[in-house]
Amino acid sequence: MPVEPNPYLLGNFAPVPTETTSTHLEVIGEIPEQLEGRLLRIGPNPLDQPAPDHHWFLGTGLAHGVRLRGGRAEWYRSRLVRSPDVSARLGEEPVPDPWPADHGVFSANTNIIGHAGRTWALVEAGSPPLELDDGLDTVAVSDFDGTLPRAYTAHPKRDPSTGDLHAVAYWWGWGNKVQYLVLDGEGRISRTVDVDVTGGPMIHDTSITENHIAVMDLPCVFDIEMATAGRQLPYRWDPDYPARIGWLDRTGPEGVVHWFEVDPCYIFHPLNSHETDDGRIVLDAVRHPKMFDTFLVGPDEGPPRLERWTFDLNSGRVSEETVDDRPQEFPRLREDLVGLPYRYGYSVASGAHLEPGALLKHDLSRGTTTEHTGAPGRHHMEAVFVPRDDTDHSPGAEDDGWLMAYTYEAESDSSSVVIVDARDMSAPPVAEIRLGTRVPYGFHGNWCPD
Ligand SMILES: [Fe+2]
Repeated sequence: MPVEPNPYLLGNFAPVPTETTSTHLEVIGEIPEQLEGRLLRIGPNPLDQPAPDHHWFLGTGLAHGVRLRGGRAEWYRSRLVRSPDVSARLGEEPVPDPWPADHGVFSANTNIIGHAGRTWALVEAGSPPLELDDGLDTVAVSDFDGTLPRAYTAHPKRDPSTGDLHAVAYWWGWGNKVQYLVLDGEGRISRTVDVDVTGGPMIHDTSITENHIAVMDLPCVFDIEMATAGRQLPYRWDPDYPARIGWLDRTGPEGVVHWFEVDPCYIFHPLNSHETDDGRIVLDAVRHPKMFDTFLVGPDEGPPRLERWTFDLNSGRVSEETVDDRPQEFPRLREDLVGLPYRYGYSVASGAHLEPGALLKHDLSRGTTTEHTGAPGRHHMEAVFVPRDDTDHSPGAEDDGWLMAYTYEAESDSSSVVIVDARDMSAPPVAEIRLGTRVPYGFHGNWCPD
């Protein structure tokens, strides 16, 4: 059903017309000298004029990067992610592609990560990762050196104790199963476990604990009628589908899943989860009331809020409480606490259609939230936390570091990267790097240190 006008084609949701390379970037303030690496980000950037019912989740990936070194911003680049169809559209030689012609490879647009000394653009739903070089040019369609069975995900979780990436992948062609995958430190799949689910759920993300990984079997599911009608994103809310969250024992060999029925909702993004000494798992995540029920061009089915679920693995009971009810998305934390007890989470306040606003810092011990609003009219995209000292794991050091975020200002119709002291959210950014162009609201990014 077309929506007029489609909000995901307006303002800073709209695509930019060109790739960019800038080596002269205006910097306000001082970039901390120890930040050496690339701040990467990615989102959809449709190449051709999209139809009015265009879905925000579709469209060629446009990867963005800002390189920092020695207190300087060396460059900003944006590059289209060249799947074979994109190369053909641009009149270029295609990059190497190890998959059979009928695999269904499309341009990855959802997340961009550094792992095993390499850079990958990631997407879900059956299309493989694409490998990029340090300057964000596409190198190849990836199958993780021949080890990826079929589908991957945009949201692997790095276990800080091993460096392995843990993921749950889905693909409509698998029917009632999804797959747990471990990617090792060499960038090769080292373990796969098939998990039975009720139907064909869209599983966008997962969360890990020391021993478990979450399987979000929630009621946004593959819809054969939409697929037959040619919808490119054939997933829809099904009120009759049981809402379940499963915890797969990822350390044991048997692939045992502890399933819990939960109140119907949809979760794109967990913040974090951890185990307690008395056999419970605590999960913090952004909860949407529904997904793709009445609004079919993007995620807009009521305000998303930060919620905490507590799963008792002994009694099989689950409880749910609201942590913060202001609309928000894109939760992150200090990455070396993934799967472990933690105190601070960061997210982005959301307006209509998930248009981003202020940065939020949640103190989960005190139950308080502070904001960084920045300059008037500034919209902050997903923030990444970078610790000042990544070897200092004392509790007092958890929030000692910086939040780094791409931003957008409508007045100048341009974007910046801001670096905010996470301990002083009310202060202006310690540095702002003006990019001289705009970065469309997209999805995810990461800090890739040298
Ligand atoms: Fe996501």
